[in-house]
Amino acid sequence: MDSADVLIMAAGKGERFGDRKQFLKFGEATAVNIAVELFKKVEGISNIFVVYPPDMTEEEFMEEGKPGEDAIMVRGGILREESVKNGLEKVESDYVLIHDAARPACTEGLVRRVRDAAAEYGAAVPGINPASTINYIENGNIRILDRNRVYFIQTPQCYKTSEITTAYNDRKKNGYTDSSAVAREAGIEVKLVEGEARNIKITYRDDYQYLKEVLK
Ligand code: CTP
Ligand code: MG
Repeated sequence: MDSADVLIMAAGKGERFGDRKQFLKFGEATAVNIAVELFKKVEGISNIFVVYPPDMTEEEFMEEGKPGEDAIMVRGGILREESVKNGLEKVESDYVLIHDAARPACTEGLVRRVRDAAAEYGAAVPGINPASTINYIENGNIRILDRNRVYFIQTPQCYKTSEITTAYNDRKKNGYTDSSAVAREAGIEVKLVEGEARNIKITYRDDYQYLKEVLK
């Protein structure tokens, strides 16, 4: 792969958490800043875009999120897919990595693994199997899903810029929580690579406590 740009998704409201997760502190650093610094360490990354909330000014976001001087700001939208689309419009490289600012424990190793798989297969996402048994309940009937065939999908995800842009432009509904769902709907074949247990997304308060320990 020649080069890739990155979209750091940081335009959410954190409604389930009760606060904007992109601004949470880990030591001195914010979650947004941790994400920017992560991608700066990976070779072959060109532009790092940070997508910020539509109800904030760029100045307000910079003040609270401290993304750093190397990040390029892009205004996001109400829905995650609008934020991704706004970001994609700015991308210049042939490949794009899309990452949640709310996953501050992602490692350089995982970024490289996803990028390398995308270079080989065209698109790649990380996933991990759940530790617990999964029950699927439909009309009162319980089915046990084989946990080795169930995956928690993570970010960063990597795509060919032209393909994922077309997928986002042609999307068929609202409310996608995951870019690989948009990609697959458009017929893009996405390679699943091994994710990392620590790469959870901050969603609830306990996730923050756990990640503060991990990142100590
Ligand atoms: N995100 C975004 N634009 C949106 C919504 C979400 O860039 N309109 C980003 C979030 O900032 C987060 C990532 O996408 O880094 C994953 O989304 P999620 O965990 O759902 O975060 P929030 O939408 O902020 O949380 P909630 O759904 O609880 O409101
Ligand atoms: Mg959300």
